[in-house]
Amino acid sequence: MSVSQTQRHAIRGMLADLKMPGSLEAVDAILGEVDGGRVGATDAISRLLGAQISLRNNRRLQAAMRSSRLPAIKTLEGFDFSFQPSIKREQIESLHELGFIERKENVVFLGPPGVGKTHLAISLAIAAAKGGRRVYYGTLTDLIRSLEEAQAAGQLSRRLAVLTHPSLLVVDEIGYLPVSHAGAVLFFQLMNRRYEHASTVLTSNKGFEDWGTVLGDEVMAAALIDRVLHHCHLVNIRGNSFRMREHTALHQALQADLDVQAGRKAPRSRARSTN
Ligand SMILES: Nc1ncnc2c1ncn2[C@@H]1O[C@H](COP(=O)(O)OP(=O)(O)O)[C@@H](O)[C@H]1O
Ligand SMILES: [Mg+2]
Repeated sequence: MSVSQTQRHAIRGMLADLKMPGSLEAVDAILGEVDGGRVGATDAISRLLGAQISLRNNRRLQAAMRSSRLPAIKTLEGFDFSFQPSIKREQIESLHELGFIERKENVVFLGPPGVGKTHLAISLAIAAAKGGRRVYYGTLTDLIRSLEEAQAAGQLSRRLAVLTHPSLLVVDEIGYLPVSHAGAVLFFQLMNRRYEHASTVLTSNKGFEDWGTVLGDEVMAAALIDRVLHHCHLVNIRGNSFRMREHTALHQALQADLDVQAGRKAPRSRARSTN
């Protein structure tokens, strides 16, 4: 069925009127394929609406990247699950459907450096931002510093409100740098406010048993962990550093060369440890 120029013009007019630039840009190509009999009506409608949704999501993402302080773009598609067998793919995929944000649950990624904790925390934040949720990212040190500055300026309650507002807050790198007792108290206040109010994604290279040392207060750490874990998805990653994988491969290749030169039989490559 061919689409007349008049119909085409009318459709373009309606898309412009509805302020749908994504669909407007795609409509000629889609109608061309309809004309050529390559695309049916259902597909055409779905592609037309899909073009608008993807433009809107990209805009949301750009705005979120500006306001959320996310340090990089990391996505689920860019995550190599085969490299990290201790991670349950279904668990991560289901978290990316964002029901946990609806239910105000938390996510905690634990594991040694380089295993993808920050990557997955950011990809959850990006999925949420694409879904129109307000997100905010900070390392524990950044967040505490901003609370301390606000406190010094007499604006603590305003800053706490700002950091309680996002549907998803990422608190990255708990455990890398020491935290002052006053800083830990401020962080506790923030997490107390967010408890059962909005979701937080936390990452740490330290097990919960060490959070008392990290925060300089065992009792407060226990109270914090109690709140965080009350409604929580725990992702414990036991594996090798992705950052080191190229170094490891290079090291093995060099060693094999040296072995060959020395007339030794190259050792069989050892299976990667998964825990
Ligand atoms: N399984 C993986 N697939 C793809 N990239 C990964 C994977 N794990 C880690 N990376 C990448 O390796 C780097 C280190 O990962 P990161 O998430 O920062 O580790 P962590 O926060 O656990 O220290 C990042 O650039 C990240 O995107
Ligand atoms: Mg990290």
